[in-house]
Amino acid sequence: MIPSDAPGTCLVLEKVSKHFGGLRAVDGVTLEIRAGERRAIIGPNGAGKTTLFNLITGEFPVTAGRIWFFGQEITHLPPHRRAALGIGRTFQITNLFPKLTVLENVLLAVQGLRPTKYVMHRPIWGYPELQQQARHLIERVGLWEKRDLPLTNLSYGEQRQVEVLLALAGGPKLLLLDEPTAGLSPGETRVIVEIIRSLDPTITVLLIEHDMDVAFEVADRITVLHFGRVLAEGTKAEIKANREVQNIYLGAGTGS
Ligand SMILES: Nc1ncnc2c1ncn2[C@@H]1O[C@H](COP(=O)(O)OP(=O)(O)OP(=O)(O)O)[C@@H](O)[C@H]1O
Ligand SMILES: [Mg+2]
Repeated sequence: MIPSDAPGTCLVLEKVSKHFGGLRAVDGVTLEIRAGERRAIIGPNGAGKTTLFNLITGEFPVTAGRIWFFGQEITHLPPHRRAALGIGRTFQITNLFPKLTVLENVLLAVQGLRPTKYVMHRPIWGYPELQQQARHLIERVGLWEKRDLPLTNLSYGEQRQVEVLLALAGGPKLLLLDEPTAGLSPGETRVIVEIIRSLDPTITVLLIEHDMDVAFEVADRITVLHFGRVLAEGTKAEIKANREVQNIYLGAGTGS
């Protein structure tokens, strides 16, 4: 068994599985992620990558296996408890507040408020430190000029940037990014890559990425999932040289 509370260990998954009926979407995955590590998860469509994230955030209960976060077992904690411990993920913009402005959304995220509470505690504008924090985040993605625009008025690429910064607003220790560059132009992809690269080095990042160049640029180590299992794990050089990985990506011709 992995020493789940070893110093410097952020996340440990031990033989974690998720079955949907007869489908083994995630099948006995064991992973150990060091604090501050940037780990990419790659693998073909349907490999179980997003499901794995949902098990880490608590969106889905595991079928089997155990999960630890900084030495604390979280296997059965609900999502909000895991978020409070410091597990952050990107939100789908469409599920948030598309008619509110960039600044309003970020302020909400910084406060960790739900919409109802927001109405009840209206004067968040009166807290300069929150304003400061929100401004810092928005400037980081270069969107300060657009702070007063509703999210719906931003380009698709800008919306994806806001998704990442909303995930950062909660001050996560572990940031889960599910295909943050999907559908982006090369220029917009660069912005996302630079945001990830410029993160505080103590933040641990798990990144599902279909773009191999991005995965290899951002990650220290790569895990390859295939049919719900870990097919390979290693450095960029090791993964590039791995014959089975080559077969999946070259053989299938798809790979996301
Ligand atoms: N809520 C669900 N109910 C039933 N089956 C599901 C559910 N979520 C995912 N699956 C199935 O589990 C398998 C893994 O899906 P998952 O979305 O985790 O793959 P993925 O690696 O993220 O794929 P992609 O690269 O296309 O995003 C797929 O066969 C999918 O159809
Ligand atoms: Mg997915």
